Amino acid sequence: MANESERSGAATPSIGASPAAGSSADAWRAALTARRTEVSAEVVVPPAQAHAPPDAEVARFILGAFWTGLGVTLAGSLGGFLDFFWPRGIKRFGGPYAVGHVDDYEQGGVPLFTAAAQTWVVNLDPGDTRYGGSDGGAGYLALWRKCPHLGCSVPWNPSFAFEGQTGWFRCPCHGSTYTKSGIRVFGPAPRSMDTFELTVDDAGNLTVHTDRVTPGGPDNAERAMTVEQLREAQASG
Ligand code: FES
Repeated sequence: MANESERSGAATPSIGASPAAGSSADAWRAALTARRTEVSAEVVVPPAQAHAPPDAEVARFILGAFWTGLGVTLAGSLGGFLDFFWPRGIKRFGGPYAVGHVDDYEQGGVPLFTAAAQTWVVNLDPGDTRYGGSDGGAGYLALWRKCPHLGCSVPWNPSFAFEGQTGWFRCPCHGSTYTKSGIRVFGPAPRSMDTFELTVDDAGNLTVHTDRVTPGGPDNAERAMTVEQLREAQASG
């Protein structure tokens, strides 16, 4: 009895079929192969997957972003630091400064301070012979307020008593004590107060030259000059 396939004339492959049947199986296999190839060709790769960067590129991008962020953060911190500590409105020290008129300084009077010049100017009276007085000096003397010990600012203290006398330059840090001409008489300072050069113009205006400093010494009082001596010194160059 003829089977259904034979009746219908269709070539249905089966295991253990005859050579004629084998030809049909080959044709079927070829058709399947062609079909698979067709399907494979239709596979569409998702765009994201198609353009995915290599791992090294991603790592490079992350590293770049990290260093950029770190750089921006550090630059911001440094800018804030400099902005906080940058001095504003402070005139540079180390040049000439006007310190008033000769008449501003009474002979034998208290020293007067000019903050911008960091300078005490005193008009010594040779008649002020008390201990701590003029030390025999006569005229104008400019003293740097910086203590030769560790640099503290030395004030004139009119009420400070030492050795039975009142009125001294007295360093608040470690107690170094100086006469009115800046000569050291007590304390750890290694020398007397440093002095600056003074000049005077025709109108009597005094200028202190903070770039011309002489280390303090026992001869401080001898560096004081009257107006006439200041003019002679200027004239002689
Ligand atoms: S800094 Fe003036 S005595 Fe030390």
